[in-house]
Amino acid sequence: APAVIVAIDGPSGTGKSSTSKAVAAQLGLSYLDTGAQYRAITWWMVTNGIDIADPWAVAAVAGKPEIVSGTDPAAPTITVDGTDVSGPIRTQEVTSKVSAVSAVPEVRTRITELQRSLAASAQRGIVVEGRDIGTTVLPDADLKIFLTASPEARAARRSGELKGVDIHATREALIKRDAADSTRKTSPLAKADDAVEVDTTDLTLQQVIECVVTLVEEKR
Ligand code: C5P
Repeated sequence: APAVIVAIDGPSGTGKSSTSKAVAAQLGLSYLDTGAQYRAITWWMVTNGIDIADPWAVAAVAGKPEIVSGTDPAAPTITVDGTDVSGPIRTQEVTSKVSAVSAVPEVRTRITELQRSLAASAQRGIVVEGRDIGTTVLPDADLKIFLTASPEARAARRSGELKGVDIHATREALIKRDAADSTRKTSPLAKADDAVEVDTTDLTLQQVIECVVTLVEEKR
């Protein structure tokens, strides 16, 4: 069968990662978490003392870190200059700074190139999750999914992941990050015209996975 390219976009807390990984594993496809790449470059900026409030400072060093993503859905990995950063990229500090870094066009150009080359080299195909995959990175994807959920459901899911964190604070932080991601000039979070929208508010993860697997199989 020819390689199948699946783009899964949407705001945070809609189940993008869990869904994308499971769909890729079930169908024997590669998997790419593009949010992890933006988190990794943000982690590098923070670690190297770059002033992320200054887009010119960020742009000037956007090409420096070497970011490598492993695409096995059973064990996704990400390294920066050879260091495994899977843990450090999930801290509150990185989460609060990633929107500013990912809004810088030089950062997006760099990361988008990595994403396209990984998608092109996936033998059986790939599930790529992010914010601008269907609109900008892979506009010719065979299937585009846009996941949504109510702010309450999204905050509840995130709080479940991050134990002990206040749900109201989580909800506010989520809304703030989505607003920043949706309103930036360069490839904002948006549903592609030809994307299938799936509202996951009242669905279980298993139901969302089944729904997407069915849609992929219809395209094959
Ligand atoms: O998906 P995740 O929450 O890990 O994404 C972290 C951040 O990376 C997003 O809030 C957004 O700022 C950025 N991002 C992006 N484009 C993508 C994926 C993520 O700008 N395709």
